[in-house]
This record gives sequence, C-alpha cells and structure tokens, in this order.
Amino acid sequence: MAMTQDDLKLAVAQAAIAYVPSDCIVGVGTGSTANFFIDELAKIKGKIRGAVASSEASAKRLQGHGIEVLSLNDAGDLPVYVDGADEITKHMHMVKGGGGALTREKIVAAASAKFICLCDQSKLVDVLGKFPLPIEVIPMAQSYIAREMVKLGGQPKLREGFTTDNGNVILDVHGLSIMNPTELEAKLNHLPGVVTNGLFALRPADVLLLGTPDGVQTMTVK
Ligand code: A5P
Repeated sequence: MAMTQDDLKLAVAQAAIAYVPSDCIVGVGTGSTANFFIDELAKIKGKIRGAVASSEASAKRLQGHGIEVLSLNDAGDLPVYVDGADEITKHMHMVKGGGGALTREKIVAAASAKFICLCDQSKLVDVLGKFPLPIEVIPMAQSYIAREMVKLGGQPKLREGFTTDNGNVILDVHGLSIMNPTELEAKLNHLPGVVTNGLFALRPADVLLLGTPDGVQTMTVK
C-alpha cells in the first residue's frame, strides 16, 4: 500500500528518538510532525527528565502524556531541539511558522546544541519562498511592516483570526523567491515591530531526517 504523508511523518518521528540523549531535557517543536514526535517521546518518557515546549499546544500534548514541561528559564541550555519545518533546503535553511509558533521555536532552537528537523519529502525545496513566509509582528506595526514587505517584492496577508502565544499577529508574505536566506533573515530582524521572521537560516538545522517512501534519509550540511 502507498505510504501516506502521515506514514512518512511517523517514520521520521521514530527515527528522531535516536537523537535524544538519556536523562536530558528535550526541546520540542510544534505542528503535525512534532506531534508524532511527542507521541514517540511518550514511549521513552522514563528515560528523559522532561521537555521544553515551543508552544502552548505542544506543552498540552506533552503533559497529556505525563511528560513534565519545564520553562526554558528553568531548563537552561538543551542538548537537542526536534521540530518540523514548512520548507527546507539542502543547506538546512528553513521556513517555519506555518503553525504560528515561530518565535518560541526560534528561541528554543537557539538555546539547543543540536536542531533535528523532521520533514516528509514534500518539504525539501531548492529555493525557499513558495510557502508564504510568516512574520510575527507587534499589532501596531502591522501596516508598516506590510508596506515594507511590498517594497521587498512580497504580498503580505494578515493571518485572519489568529493571535500568537505572545499576543501578536502574523503576516504571511507570499511571492518571495528567497535566494539569500541568511541575508533576508537578518534584514527582517532589523525592522522595528518585527518580533521574529520565519526564516531559520542564521541558525540552520544540524540534521534533517527526511521521510521518503524508500525510508528515512539522514542529511547534514557537508
Ligand atoms: C510551527 O509554527 C511551524 O514552524 C511548524 O514547525 C511547521 O509548520 C511544520 O508543521 P507540520 O509538521 O504540521 O507541517
């Protein structure tokens, strides 16, 4: 029987367990792929001390499995952060934030020694930008940032009816073809009112576990 996207997500989630050191606090991402990972983590919960979650939704799911959720402030630096992505290149640059959790994801990833990215093969792209780039914005800066995005050649759309865990809004910027992700990430970080942009390139993934019908491929930047 043909493998579904969920089968591929489950396969990479299972493969990610090998990257979780025993007795550690694990950084946990957000989204449907991360959910598969949380469910796998539950099976080895006796071997870990707990988790730091990148969203309220992931915290709830972890707690539902009886896994202790710590604040990042209490946990300190983490050995590993495991999360999905909306797009990733072979350079391990990513677009994230489809689920709106990009700010906490970037914080927990930054505090982690290793970023393990879990994707099904549909997420691997040559050039980032086909997936609209999410930008978390302080509400009063929404129109200003939208105009700045138009100047960069993008078409910003407010994510209707959505507020982030941090009380902000998200602009999804369509139509960008991101040839230099590290440069654009840094540039967007400097705009007043931008909390976080969904480019994860300055701090790329360390390992990509890619789900394919032929099995899980492990990729790293050469
Ligand atoms: C959440 O804000 C995102 O960054 C997710 O990591 C990303 O959207 C991947 O989600 P799926 O695993 O559901 O595709």
